[in-house]
Amino acid sequence: MMVKATALLGSSKAPILRAALRPAQSPCRLHCSSALSTRASLPGSLSSFLPSTGHFNVQRAPSDQHRLRSSLRSAAYSSSLRGERLRSSVTICHLASDCRRHLNTKGKADRAKLLRASATDTSDAMSSREIPMFPTGQPKISVVQGDADSWQGDLLAFVGFNKTNAPGDEGKLDNAAFVAAKQRFAGDGLESVVEDLRKPGSSGFTRVAGVQGLKVLGIVGVGDKSKATASATWGKTPFQVAGEAIAAAAKTYKAAKVGIALIDDDKSLSSELQVAAIEKLALGVQLGGYAATRFKSKAAPSHLKEVEIVNLASVSSDQAAAAVDRAAHLARGVLLARYLVETPANICNPTYLADCAKQIADSASDVMKLEVLEREQCEELGMGLYLGVAECSATPPKFIHLTYAPPGGSSNKTIGLVGKGLTFDTGGYNLKVSGMIERMGFDMAGAGAILGAAQALALLKPPGVTIHIISASCENMIDGKGMRPGDVLTAASGKTVEVDNTDAEGRLTLADALWYAQNKCGVQAVVDIATLTGACMVGLGKEIAGLFTPSEAMAEGLKSAAQTSGEKLWRLPMEETYREILDSPIADMKNTGIGTRFGGAITASIFLKEFVETDKVEWAHVDIAGPAWNDKAGGATGYGALLLTEWAISQSQQ
Ligand code: BES
Ligand code: MN
Ligand code: ZN
Repeated sequence: MMVKATALLGSSKAPILRAALRPAQSPCRLHCSSALSTRASLPGSLSSFLPSTGHFNVQRAPSDQHRLRSSLRSAAYSSSLRGERLRSSVTICHLASDCRRHLNTKGKADRAKLLRASATDTSDAMSSREIPMFPTGQPKISVVQGDADSWQGDLLAFVGFNKTNAPGDEGKLDNAAFVAAKQRFAGDGLESVVEDLRKPGSSGFTRVAGVQGLKVLGIVGVGDKSKATASATWGKTPFQVAGEAIAAAAKTYKAAKVGIALIDDDKSLSSELQVAAIEKLALGVQLGGYAATRFKSKAAPSHLKEVEIVNLASVSSDQAAAAVDRAAHLARGVLLARYLVETPANICNPTYLADCAKQIADSASDVMKLEVLEREQCEELGMGLYLGVAECSATPPKFIHLTYAPPGGSSNKTIGLVGKGLTFDTGGYNLKVSGMIERMGFDMAGAGAILGAAQALALLKPPGVTIHIISASCENMIDGKGMRPGDVLTAASGKTVEVDNTDAEGRLTLADALWYAQNKCGVQAVVDIATLTGACMVGLGKEIAGLFTPSEAMAEGLKSAAQTSGEKLWRLPMEETYREILDSPIADMKNTGIGTRFGGAITASIFLKEFVETDKVEWAHVDIAGPAWNDKAGGATGYGALLLTEWAISQSQQ
């Protein structure tokens, strides 16, 4: 039997408990290790809010978090003895009396904070340790005057271009300072790594002793100077790749202070390119060497504390600081997306995503506000497709809607970012028997991307654009009351859908989310992003996302954003004649159209198009089934957070 265990601790202030109990939903059972009391002995105000079918025991005010956790652990243990699995636990924190007073005066906002504490403090097996929801421990990055010769620290990396102007010199570094450095460091093993730097990203690092107090020296190639641009035409810039290589080396050598010297001794690199180089190097340094260690019992410490970029002659300190800040804001968005996507489904459920959105909104209340629609509110709006999927799950759905309003309030354009937020996808009755079911906690990578973008946008604060950030989040599970293959559901738009495959659930949730963006937010342009089809991965492989749109302007806008962000995106056709594949004898359409496996990513996009008024709204769909997860490195990539951030910023200029 699956039970939900709730520990109620401390105050019985009715409004607080009512608010905090809401996510627990019924039926709900409460186990505690000691000081048990029965439902009858609960204060009246409290018992009236408890679901009537559950069994409740209440432990009163434990003195500290430690006792709280141990009581949850023993609750889990006693559940397991009864043959039950403790599916989740909601903790209402112990409220000291001054805290209670505070809550009474501050009202809603603080109740929300309390709720937040309840959702993040606990999680099944991990309840004994706090897992941070937001990235921590990023290094401090700065651009400093002076050059490499006088720089002091642990690891110094030279970033150099190829020499292409003299025949026979191809592949060698075009840099006198570097050559001098190389001579000075002769014998330290550096020569061996400089010979082939033709390939951007090629690098070599070596331990040194007795040179400027340095421990490690390195060289990283960034290709031809004549071809250097602020962003690459395809994929990451050599500067970002270099930054990532430097971060990886810093990790290998456990360096705390790292210097990056861009070699440009003929001073021919434009200041615009220098600024771009700073931003991309700084971004790369923050994204490189990443490893998901939060769920290990001993999280690996991050050694890198400080990064200094030297040798950039014609960049003012203001320009440099702005570039570093921009990189830090972008990196925070990408890292948040990685954090969310890598978080397993027993922790990252729809409530967790809503909670994350709440923290983003609270951290930037001048520009962001959050609305979370509960199941009942979605019912009122008639979101039958979304709720059809959500019905199969004991975990409550959360329809997350963040709104970004630019500082000063003047806005020329309203846009939407919609992310697929399936925190787990079993496939439903069309169970994923051989379809990577164990990976499906990542099926909220679209929501990860939009929340990552929300985080970056909340920090970057672009002017002139209003942004609605939406995820109809739920799980796709199996349940006696859930959606069956063959069921007919009615969308918020009024269209009916025969669910011929419960595993094509993402498009169902997106359809109602797109309806909401158009009809409740008045978006002029909207992008949805989703781990939607295995077919897209078959077509484009693991590194490239699929782009689908009937609008040339959207295609251009997103391709250009992808160039800026260094993410790979390829447009596929929305072949109109494939619409008939979705024909249903009973409803307006089927959700997959069994009979052909071919072109599955395209038919998915054609399904979505049925829910977009393309004559009124510009729309694009991005399928990230491939690039959301890196199989080689074994982790979430954060794909899409940068793309959507850059696209949203580009819209502010229109
Ligand atoms: N979340 C999956 C898509 C997916 C599968 C992404 C594997 C990454 C790896 C999606 O909900 C799904 O199950 N799609 C089906 C659609 C089919 C039933 C028409 C698919 O791609 O198999
Ligand atoms: Mn599915
Ligand atoms: Zn899915």
